[in-house]
Amino acid sequence: MHHKPKVLLTRRLPASGMNLLSQHFDLNVNPLDEPMPHSRIAESISDKEGLACLLTDDIDLEIIQKASNLKIIANYAVGYNNIDLAAVNKRKIPVTNTPDVLTEATADLTIGLLISVARRIVEGDNYVRAGRFRGWAPELLLGSDVYGKTLGIVGMGRIGQAVARRAHGFGMAVLYYDKKRLPEDVEKRIDIQYREAIQLLSESDFVSIHAPLSDDTRHFISGAELNAMKRTAYLINVARGAIVDEEALVEALRNGDIAGCALDVYENEPVVTPELLQMPNAVLVPHIGSASLEARTKMALMVVENLVAVLIDNKRPPNVVNPEIYTNSLFRK
Ligand code: GLV
Ligand code: GLV
Repeated sequence: MHHKPKVLLTRRLPASGMNLLSQHFDLNVNPLDEPMPHSRIAESISDKEGLACLLTDDIDLEIIQKASNLKIIANYAVGYNNIDLAAVNKRKIPVTNTPDVLTEATADLTIGLLISVARRIVEGDNYVRAGRFRGWAPELLLGSDVYGKTLGIVGMGRIGQAVARRAHGFGMAVLYYDKKRLPEDVEKRIDIQYREAIQLLSESDFVSIHAPLSDDTRHFISGAELNAMKRTAYLINVARGAIVDEEALVEALRNGDIAGCALDVYENEPVVTPELLQMPNAVLVPHIGSASLEARTKMALMVVENLVAVLIDNKRPPNVVNPEIYTNSLFRK
């Protein structure tokens, strides 16, 4: 048997991914079903050629400095704001993510959250379970229509577009803001209209965030933006918590500046601002955007493919997010 490259996996993945990983690699896995402490990752990384990590692992300068043998970081997520790209780029280490395979699952959850908050599904569930249902009533749990309303999408990437397609099935008009406007023929084809951010916020009945977290988007939605929204509008966030200023959001909900919110992500995960927990017009789920068995399995296989490309085939990985490291380098395409 030839030498198997050493790979650190910070937490167990779905079974089919685990099997492939141990076939190809000398695998060191966090034995506990909880996040691997930062100090343990730092201790274990020095002899590893591959790192498979999660969005909850902070892969910072300290870890990169200790990772003297590292040839690839394969993140089990589409977002990769948990990795210090500046530090990684200096070392010319490719970082990979898991795009596409979680797009439809995440868009499905987005629509589920949108309808849940508009039609008060979670409140209704709590109401029935509490034994309070005494029969049909004309004004019981009145919510808001979804059909025919205007959806404003912030971040028109793959997931934003998948949400737009679904929204059209509900007869919604779809506006979008993205720091990069799409070509007009693409806008026409997916039937979306571009708006500047503040304009989008003031016209939309639902605002849904699908942008990556970066210095540009941190607190993109704060007090002024929430104020620009209609008092009858809802905010949905399945992207990254820190894109929304959570304190400003709580304030806006408390003041009735917006009608409600549905969140899959939080600014300081897993901590949730306590006031949110008391608000019936906030639907809260625990970062499950990609959590279908199908999507999470495909994501695991993608992590394996990227590790194999670099560590076994000595190739550029298919899902590299920092291709700039390959310019003027000795790596083969
Ligand atoms: C989930 O949040 C992901 O980035 O994959
Ligand atoms: C994420 O995959 C996006 O591009 O929306």
